[in-house]
Amino acid sequence: MNATSVPQTGSPRPLLDLVTSWVDQIAALTQPDAVFWCDGSAEQDRAMREAIVASGAGLWLNPEKRPNSLLVRSDPRDVARVEERTYICSQSKKDAGPTNNWESPEKMRTRLNGLFAGCMRGRTMFAIPFSMGPVGSPIAQYGVEISDSPYVVANMSVMTRVSPAVYAEVEKAGSFVKCLHSVGRPLAPGEKDVPWPCNPENTYITHFPEERLIMSFGSGYGGNALLGKKCFALRIASAMARDEGWLAEHMLVLGVKSPDGEKTYVTAAFPSACGKTNFAMMVPPEPMRRAGWEITCVGDDIAWIKPGPDGRLRAINPEAGFFGVAPGTSYSSNPIAMDSIKSDAIFTNVALTDDGDVWWEGMTKEPPAHLVDWLGRDWSPGQAGPDGKPAASSHPNSRFTAPARNCPVIDPDWENPAGVPISAIIFGGRRSTTMPLIFQAFNWSHGVFLGATMGSETTAAAAGAVGQVRRDPMAMLPFCGYNMGDYFAHWLGMHRQIKYVPRIFHVNWFRKNAEGKFLWPGFGENARILEWIVQRCRFGAHALETPIGWLPDYSDIDMEGLEKTVTPEIFAEAQRIDTTEWHRELLLQDELFIRLYSELPKELVFQRELLMSRV
Ligand code: OXD
Ligand code: MN
Repeated sequence: MNATSVPQTGSPRPLLDLVTSWVDQIAALTQPDAVFWCDGSAEQDRAMREAIVASGAGLWLNPEKRPNSLLVRSDPRDVARVEERTYICSQSKKDAGPTNNWESPEKMRTRLNGLFAGCMRGRTMFAIPFSMGPVGSPIAQYGVEISDSPYVVANMSVMTRVSPAVYAEVEKAGSFVKCLHSVGRPLAPGEKDVPWPCNPENTYITHFPEERLIMSFGSGYGGNALLGKKCFALRIASAMARDEGWLAEHMLVLGVKSPDGEKTYVTAAFPSACGKTNFAMMVPPEPMRRAGWEITCVGDDIAWIKPGPDGRLRAINPEAGFFGVAPGTSYSSNPIAMDSIKSDAIFTNVALTDDGDVWWEGMTKEPPAHLVDWLGRDWSPGQAGPDGKPAASSHPNSRFTAPARNCPVIDPDWENPAGVPISAIIFGGRRSTTMPLIFQAFNWSHGVFLGATMGSETTAAAAGAVGQVRRDPMAMLPFCGYNMGDYFAHWLGMHRQIKYVPRIFHVNWFRKNAEGKFLWPGFGENARILEWIVQRCRFGAHALETPIGWLPDYSDIDMEGLEKTVTPEIFAEAQRIDTTEWHRELLLQDELFIRLYSELPKELVFQRELLMSRV
């Protein structure tokens, strides 16, 4: 017997009180017309995509060019994560720390219960059981997302493992992460819906780490609404990881096969929209491929890392798909991503071609002569926008959603429940000055210091100004679910739990010369830097000891075929340690350290003092 009078549709209602009692409680609060139980099947996926098209938010792309793929246009007010409306609601404000917005759980609950009351009237409520990581893996975690958006269901089915198999795992664990989402636009009887309902005036993305609960209201876009991603896999999971002795990180994971057949796995943290997806799917340059180097992708955005029984850190990608930034993605910048989105993809806020395919800035050198832009208007190259400058056809944070199984270089072990063993951790940011192309930390604590002091020039992935350097420790500034100082202490403490400590590196693909020209070509050529990192981990390849860490020489990097583009002089410029720039950097780091002072581990303060005395 159903415990609720609301019609139940979709897959059979599960026989698990733990889940049904919560779903019923939310149905009673939000008053949907029906509850739809999701099961991740191809039939349901098709039905969701049809529903998106029927709502007017999306359209099927030409099946000959892009089978089973949709183009969706959001409300232009709902296009990115909203960090200023994102809250960590821990009991104590100190636990959220100075880098997070905080509100008391009681106060936020009262406010949100008011907003959620009746908010699904006239809509269907979807209950989505999902696993972050392979079902049954010792590193996986389980959640149920409740949402009133078919777009969320369709995306969650790509980005996570949606399956009724999750219920058995929830029963075993006795708990699950509760992910509640609404677009926040109830419909009065007979009221016609808008294509992309949202409620930007009342958007709240809130996390209750102690209760393992997420409540998201008012936005249907990306990280605000696909709660498995940033909200669960980073903010809630980072708090779980602190309590349980593991790491939930904003990192890609990739495998490097050396010519001798040995596989080395590496994770890397770069802030949003700094090329993590490109790096995760990199195709090595021809001379490296010829020599036998291969790169495979485990994940492009999030890594859950646990000390394994073998004394190594082992990582899984908790996601099952890619939610990548579209502009700039092309057959020259990321051919593997282009191949991964050939079918089964969802494109959001990109432009439509006259033959029913997608296009975005940077996809091809020459734009098509005519497009329909992300706002549904006619567009032609060079056409001026409201500010008089040439208008972009796609939103700068437009995205593709694609299943990881479509990726031609997906690592054979990407679904290994035990995870893959990690040999190196790379930190990096988008910096036009100061930071060399590549250097290695002296040891774990110095590496944690490098991660903690990471800085990057801001991009369009989050609402706000673009192009300013902001400190983004471990690329986790918007994603750490607790006090950043405690997070650093947790990282430092992990050393004690691992026998084979990964080597830590810092990279910067974005350094420019005095004329503003990039010093390093980036993209696939970054594999040359990765080759040195692997050789350094495996064989202690040559490096020079400098005040900031270990730096390779020109002759340490495999430059075959690139000698003309990157001469020894250019490389020296890319690797230059400029004392004046480093003095400024140390001052800038101080801003973050002062903000975090009360919880900042002394070890990091000492690392900074040591660096200061060296430079
Ligand atoms: C993302 C982000 O969407 O970091 O991955 O913003
Ligand atoms: Mn990200």
